[in-house]
Amino acid sequence: MSPERISVIIQQKIEAYDPSGNLDHTARLILALMSLRHSRTKLHVERVALMAEEVASDMGKDARQAFFSGLLHDIGKLVLPYHLFADQSITDDEFSEITSHAAAGHKVLEPFHLYTALVAGIHHRAQDRGYGLTLTDFPEDMPLSQVKKVLNIAVIVGVCDFIDAWQNRGDTLRDGRKKTDLDLRSLLLEKYPDDSQVVDLALVAADKVRTI
Ligand SMILES: [Fe+2]
Ligand SMILES: [Fe+2]
Repeated sequence: MSPERISVIIQQKIEAYDPSGNLDHTARLILALMSLRHSRTKLHVERVALMAEEVASDMGKDARQAFFSGLLHDIGKLVLPYHLFADQSITDDEFSEITSHAAAGHKVLEPFHLYTALVAGIHHRAQDRGYGLTLTDFPEDMPLSQVKKVLNIAVIVGVCDFIDAWQNRGDTLRDGRKKTDLDLRSLLLEKYPDDSQVVDLALVAADKVRTI
């Protein structure tokens, strides 16, 4: 997998989607900022965006929304020290600092891009000891159909996020279990019991992205 090739593909897709509300400009700016000191996170969000786009497209959902939500889901990490994401072991205090990235991402994006803001805020909610926004943080006047749409995209991004972290970060999980002792698909189905289709499509999409 070539980071340069992935970056080129991402820039082409941003341009081709030509989203409303200057979302393309926001995405480009965030990637440029990440390239300075958060290059690992930049590559992570780019891979997650490609995977999420593919899964959403396979399921007949909004591939553009999934793509941009994947690109922006970890925007909150930009305000945290980059050494926290250098794939070294971290303390409990540092982990708790990292958990702030979900709510921070929502706060920063919310005035500009509501959907991507909500996905950023909720993308870690389904995990063990999930964190970030909850449904009570959604705008009260948001129609149920739109709430569901955000939640669907958030599940896709969350599954792709977990797979990418599994494949590219360390040998052990935060609870100390070794990855070699675990099966990724089973673990995902434990976390997302109602979303086996997303899990299976995301695993295939991850294999595709690895060959870029
Ligand atoms: Fe995250
Ligand atoms: Fe992430």
